[in-house]
Amino acid sequence: MSQEFTFHRRPRRNRKSEAVRSLVEETRVTTDDLIFPLFLLDGKNQKTEVASMPGIFRRSVDLMLKEIEECLKIGIRAFDVFPAVEDQWKDKEATRSYDPDFFYLKALRGIKKHFPEACIMTDVAMDPYSSDGHDGLVRDGKILNDETLDILGKMALAQADTGIDILGPSDMMDGRVGYIRNLLDKNGYTDVSIMSYTAKYASGFYNPFRDALDSAPKFGDKKTYQMNPANRREALIEARLDEDEGADFLMVKPALAYLDIIRLLRDNTALPITAYNVSGEYSMVKAAAQKGWLDGERVMKETLLSIKRAGADVILTYFAKEFAQSLKQ
Ligand code: PBG
Repeated sequence: MSQEFTFHRRPRRNRKSEAVRSLVEETRVTTDDLIFPLFLLDGKNQKTEVASMPGIFRRSVDLMLKEIEECLKIGIRAFDVFPAVEDQWKDKEATRSYDPDFFYLKALRGIKKHFPEACIMTDVAMDPYSSDGHDGLVRDGKILNDETLDILGKMALAQADTGIDILGPSDMMDGRVGYIRNLLDKNGYTDVSIMSYTAKYASGFYNPFRDALDSAPKFGDKKTYQMNPANRREALIEARLDEDEGADFLMVKPALAYLDIIRLLRDNTALPITAYNVSGEYSMVKAAAQKGWLDGERVMKETLLSIKRAGADVILTYFAKEFAQSLKQ
């Protein structure tokens, strides 16, 4: 470079040391931002690893209590519990989903009793309990919207009655947030929050989750209720409806391939935004790390940071515990 040329703006000055870099750091992920999804099994002393999700296990309630206790100690305080239901208990109407004697609802009661300080979230959708493997009621190969609301309402009330904190309607039926809010309020569950799966896309990233719960659709796909990955404006339609219907949080799912949607909702609502860093996003990082192709811990942190930077307040992630552990080291 020639001697006479001078310039004054040198952005590298703000990167010169760890101490300076941390002063100007714009985004931080903390354990307070995270919700850890957990898979529940029936029985006692049961623990099986999800083949497509290394490090993620299905557990019976006794072992799940231990897992939650460990997580609480390292600062993870919010959990989303999903049931792995055996085929013999599945039917077309998902009747086990609101049976108070079924292992899932009993376990939720136990978890809340042991850890009243933890925030426990549940999923409201028919798929884990449905012999059709769909989120809604199926008749003649069609998903029936309004008939499904009736079942979701029963499920929501039964879950609320266990003392859990947040309901997560993940089914994408029209009108379900308002329907559930109304039922909850009428029955005295005014304190139970709704974290709506607002912009939930028909995504290829859910397969490992469906392995975990053995909940893949038995026919067809979920494109008549989950959103088309090509659509952005449609997320605003869903967001306005969910907000009007009384949702307390709006969720975007998946996260990484939908960072623009997270930002869009962030800029168009004052409600907290949750992003679901879904199973396939976890598995991709784990698979590449196992092959030695990526530094798994580094990519995990970069991933969570990118989701927060895009505008998410809350992140549902299978990395939650590992992230908390990495901060302790
Ligand atoms: C069920 C549900 C799904 C997920 C959360 N709730 C799967 C689906 O819609 O098929 C996916 C979560 C993940 O992939 O981690 N309605």
